[in-house]
Amino acid sequence: MAGNINLHAANKAKKDEFYTQLVDIENELKHYKAHFKGKTVLCNCDDPRISNFFHYFSYNFEQLGLKKLITTCYKNQNRDLFSQNDSERAIWLEYFGDKNNNRVPDPEEIGIHYLNGDGDFRSQECIELLKEADIVVTNPPFSLFRDYVAQLIENEKKFLIIGNQNAITNKDFFPLIKNNKVWFGASIHSGDREFGVPNDYPLNAAGYRQDEKGNKFIRVKGVRWFTNLDYEKRHEDLILYKAYNPDEYPKYDNYDAINVDKTSEIPMDYDGFMGVPITFMDKYNPEQFEILGICAGNSRLNQFYGIVPYTPHVEDRVVVLF
Ligand SMILES: C[S@@+](CC[C@H](N)C(=O)[O-])C[C@H]1O[C@@H](n2cnc3c(N)ncnc32)[C@H](O)[C@@H]1O
Repeated sequence: MAGNINLHAANKAKKDEFYTQLVDIENELKHYKAHFKGKTVLCNCDDPRISNFFHYFSYNFEQLGLKKLITTCYKNQNRDLFSQNDSERAIWLEYFGDKNNNRVPDPEEIGIHYLNGDGDFRSQECIELLKEADIVVTNPPFSLFRDYVAQLIENEKKFLIIGNQNAITNKDFFPLIKNNKVWFGASIHSGDREFGVPNDYPLNAAGYRQDEKGNKFIRVKGVRWFTNLDYEKRHEDLILYKAYNPDEYPKYDNYDAINVDKTSEIPMDYDGFMGVPITFMDKYNPEQFEILGICAGNSRLNQFYGIVPYTPHVEDRVVVLF
C-alpha cells in the first residue's frame, strides 16, 4: 500500500517537473512589454537555478523597466520524488535590478531568503509574496492548475501562465474564458512544445529526447499560455471567406445552431448560433464573436463551443449555455 502511494506521488511529481525553455518565454513575453513597466513580477513555482522565467526577468529587468522580481522555489519534502531540489530548504529571492552596470544579475545583487515551509504557492508566506506582486508569470504544476488559477483570481492578480488547452473545458475555468476574464496567450496556437525534464525522467517516455550535452526534453501536446494581460493580436478579426448554405452546415438535432467543423470555415454571413471546435479559441476575437457556452460529455458535440457573430446592437441577446 505504502509503495503504491509513493509511486502515485512520484508519478504526480514527475508530471509536474517540466522546465520551460527560454525561447518559448521570449516568444510570448515580447507581446506584453508595455504591461511590465514599474511592476513587481512574481515567479512562484520556480527554482532560480533551473527556471528560465527567473533568467528571463532578471536579464531583461532594465529593458522591461521592472520594479522588483520575486521568485519562490518549491522544495519537495519527500526525497523519493522526482523534483531535482529535495535536499535543501525552500527559498525565495528578490532582485531589484543591476547595481554595478554590468547588465548581469550578479549573486551579490540577488537577495536570498529562507521560507519556513516548503514553498507551496498555497502557503500563507507565499500568499504574502503573491499579494506584493503585480503580475505572476510561470509554468505552474500541471496537477495543481485549477487551485493555482483559483488563487490568482481570488487575489485579483494579472498573470501569464502555461497550461494545457483542455483546462478550458473545466467547469470552474470555462466561465473565466466565456466572460473574457482569461484568454489564450499570443504565441502558441498549435503543435507540441518541448520542455526540459529531470535527469531521472523515464527513458521510455513518448516524445523523449536527449541532446548532445545530455540535457533531457519531452514533447508535450496541447500547451497554451493563459493570461488576463491584453495584447494587440487578440483583437484582430478572423478573416472569413465561406458563404453559409444549409447543406454544408447542418443544424444539430437537439439545438438551434449550425455545426462548423473547421474554425476557418465559419460562414461569414450567418448570424445565428454556431457550434465550433476547440481550435476556435486560438482565433477568438471578443469584438468579432461571443462565446455562449461549452458542450462537453456528448460524443457527437464533444468540446464544441457555441458562438455567434458579435452584434453590439442586439441588447437582449439570450445567452444559452451549450
Ligand atoms: C511545470 S514545472 C515548471 C517549473 C518552472 N516554472 C519552469 O517553467 O521551468 C512546475 C514546478 O512547480 C513545482 N511545484 C510543484 N508543486 C508545487 C507547489 N505546491 N507550490 C509551488 N511549486 C510547486 C514543481 O516542483 C515544478 O518545478
